[in-house]
Amino acid sequence: MAVLGTGYLGATHAVCMAELGFTVIGYDVDTAKVARLSVGEVPFFEPGLEELLRKNLESGRLSFTAEIGDVATWADVHFICVGTPQRPSDGGADLTYVDAVVDALIDTGLAPGALVVGKSTVPTGTAAALAARIHAAAPDAELAWNPEFLREGFAVNDTLRPDRLVFGVMPDGAAEARLRAVYAQTIEAGTPVVVTDYATAELVKVAANAFLATKISFINAMAEICDVAGADVLELATSIGYDARIGSRFLRPGIGFGGGCLPKDIRAFQARATELGAADSLAFLAEVDAVNLRARGRAVTLTRSALGGTVDGRRLGVLGAAFKPNSDDIRDSPALDIAAALAADGALVTVYDPAAVPNARPRYPSLNYASSVREAVTGADAVLVLTEWGEFRELDPAALLSYVAGAVMVDGRHALDAARWRAAGWTYHSLGRPAAAPTEADAR
Ligand code: UDX
Repeated sequence: MAVLGTGYLGATHAVCMAELGFTVIGYDVDTAKVARLSVGEVPFFEPGLEELLRKNLESGRLSFTAEIGDVATWADVHFICVGTPQRPSDGGADLTYVDAVVDALIDTGLAPGALVVGKSTVPTGTAAALAARIHAAAPDAELAWNPEFLREGFAVNDTLRPDRLVFGVMPDGAAEARLRAVYAQTIEAGTPVVVTDYATAELVKVAANAFLATKISFINAMAEICDVAGADVLELATSIGYDARIGSRFLRPGIGFGGGCLPKDIRAFQARATELGAADSLAFLAEVDAVNLRARGRAVTLTRSALGGTVDGRRLGVLGAAFKPNSDDIRDSPALDIAAALAADGALVTVYDPAAVPNARPRYPSLNYASSVREAVTGADAVLVLTEWGEFRELDPAALLSYVAGAVMVDGRHALDAARWRAAGWTYHSLGRPAAAPTEADAR
């Protein structure tokens, strides 16, 4: 079995397939990535993955190569796991890497009866076009579309024990039976399988991400209303979340979503809908995107007002750089976007993150970096929590007082216990919650 593309998705998939007992070769054009994976180093932060990588390299079931000739005719099943980045021109998905890897397979030659399985997130219609190309070159080869829903930080678990498996296949082909055999252990463990056509399989992925993004922007829009109404968005989210039809997950308000998937996927989905003549159907996603980006701006404004109207010349200790905790990924990170905006406003910003500083440092040179919470907050006029790492949730507000110049906390992720921080002497600010606990006098 071959896994083509060894980025986040591909490296995890290759390791997990080897863990399930298959002999797997991971292929990537990036020789540096191949070299690191071959010696058991995962080039990104993902709990549990490196251990499984080493175990499976040692077992001899897993290897990596930068030569397409090592995998093209060798593998009976090829998983396409290459990236589909955002096209700068219109926000659509750039299919360069998908096309390149399919061309490379076709040019080198596929084994008789090979199954090519697409996992990358692609605009609907891509699978049908690729199937036609593959079929023209290798008439007995088949294509299936099997989208991947893994979350960073939970990648191994999400791959080995997904919520569902979706197989987009051609009717009457052998692909469904072959995919059922590949995922037999997962299916036996009770994972539901949806067998459908290519277009639906492609859409399931982007529809799921669009729904999740909408849920987050919905609660962040409620936070905007809470701010003008003097209400509390956390209590609102808890209350609506108890309704099982709504559910409490992905209803955490704050500075919004970032990362390599949700922002890019909702833009690519809109671009594809526009191409298909259905722009109106997804017009609301432009609003979802706008609410999301507005949350970052609101955090900047909140910090400014917490410091009396300007951050110019003030020292800010920023806790968090990754787009979410348990990750070193800074792609479209709300935390760094906010930190950079504050630095552009004249603030002296020092950032600490348990994992993402090496990635952030070269990309955000206007920021200073610290190697501990204490170092980041020493002398700060205000402290901002912008990624909710467990380490930050557990901070002792009284102990931090002796390091800061001003006891001002801006909690961008609702990560801290507001009452506890206020009781320790901090002014605590967050989006969508009253600036201080209401008193009887407020009600009169
Ligand atoms: C997402 C999807 O969850 C996953 O199924 C898909 O395969 C890839 O995209 P990921 O990007 O790893 O996964 O992160 P996720 O955990 O979904 O978080 C995305 C962003 O939303 C983060 O910035 C997070 O901080 C934010 N978020 C999440 C909120 O602001 N509020 C929430 O309630 C949940």
